[in-house]
Amino acid sequence: MTATYLYCEYKPGLEGIPAAKSGISYVDGKQGILEYRGIRIEELAAKSSFLETAYLLIWDKLPTKEELTEFETDILYHRRIKYRIRDMMKCFPETGHPMDALQTSAAALGLFYSRRALDNPDYIRQAVVRLLAKIPTMIAAFHQMREGNDPIQPNDELDYASNFLYMLTERKPHPLAAKIFDVCLTLHAEHTINASTFSAMVTASTLTDPYAVVASAVGTLAGPLHGGANEEVLLMLEEIGSVENVRPFIEKCVANKQKIMGFGHRVYKVKDPRATILQNLAEQLFEEMGHDDYYDLALELEKVVEEQLGSKGIYPNVDFYSGLVYRKLGIPTDLFTPIFAIARVAGWLAHWKEQLGVNRIFRPTQIYTGVHNAPYIPIAER
Ligand code: SDX
Repeated sequence: MTATYLYCEYKPGLEGIPAAKSGISYVDGKQGILEYRGIRIEELAAKSSFLETAYLLIWDKLPTKEELTEFETDILYHRRIKYRIRDMMKCFPETGHPMDALQTSAAALGLFYSRRALDNPDYIRQAVVRLLAKIPTMIAAFHQMREGNDPIQPNDELDYASNFLYMLTERKPHPLAAKIFDVCLTLHAEHTINASTFSAMVTASTLTDPYAVVASAVGTLAGPLHGGANEEVLLMLEEIGSVENVRPFIEKCVANKQKIMGFGHRVYKVKDPRATILQNLAEQLFEEMGHDDYYDLALELEKVVEEQLGSKGIYPNVDFYSGLVYRKLGIPTDLFTPIFAIARVAGWLAHWKEQLGVNRIFRPTQIYTGVHNAPYIPIAER
């Protein structure tokens, strides 16, 4: 459906409409290419780390050894959260979704750091460090408290990825698990103007504080059509239950035009390159830690969906295999999307910083479909 109006075509969901000029990442949906600051995602997944990638995305350069060490150390020093935020979390219902707990506590960070100095590079860096450092701690703290436990303090001997897994279990993770988890964070860090990044940009365009920007984006990421899909994929696999049930399940979804979680993408019309890397990571974990029958289900799902919907460009996206990796790492299903948020904070903040340099408040127009000069009818006459 398109309608020509004023200056350009109206496209539902702004499909294909540029909302910004950006040099942060690039996606070729036809060839399945993803680049962060021009570097292919396969290179970064194989050779970089999440914090180095975050630095690249935000400051548009690969850090020197000294710059990276200073950045990692800054983040390590800021991992702890204010006791008031912990006390606030104690009032959250254990049954609440961790994404709602994260959105609330991300916004609460702003209460402690409300001074806005958006033209000061030191303020920008401080906000980046605090958000990257504290988001994992807040997620892990909520998880411990909903289990009835005291939060586990960050372990300063552990790197970024290992420390998050440690705060969930109080055990130092297997080196392979920590490495693979770090790669997952790199893969989820950035993806041009997706819904949650766009939400961050719109919020940032009013020159509010970066904590409100991230809180907006967390709320957007939570939806099942976006970051929430990784949790939905696992629930779908549980529902299907066996390889034999895959085909009937898919045929029913297709017949009812029901979206299959973990498949399809606004931009990719081939298999998401991140899905391919995540699939390989899952296979590495299965080799080391034992097979997961859900993987057989996933392979059959991918085969049947390609058969039925491949012609429409419906292939696995980033959310299809990520959950199988997290499940093998022993991470609860409802923490999958908060983990997506841990990583995507890097992308949201990269776009926040880029936009501040050329900011103009977002204020699109509309195609008015209502009436004019309508009468006000007194309530007694309605
Ligand atoms: C992420 O934008 C990003 O970059 C996002 C992301 C990132 O890194 O930030 O990549 C992360 O959000 C990945 C997507 C996770 N979501 C899901 O897995 C949920 C299932 N996927 C769909 O809801 C859907 O594919 C979207 C939301 C991802 C994209 O939707 P679009 O571009 O609006 O596509 P559409 O709904 O207009 O569908 C176009 C056609 C329709 O068929 P027709 O009406 O033309 O016959 O494709 C069909 C749809 O029915 N279709 C699907 C499908 N996705 C699209 N059919 C079955 N299953 C699906 N998953």
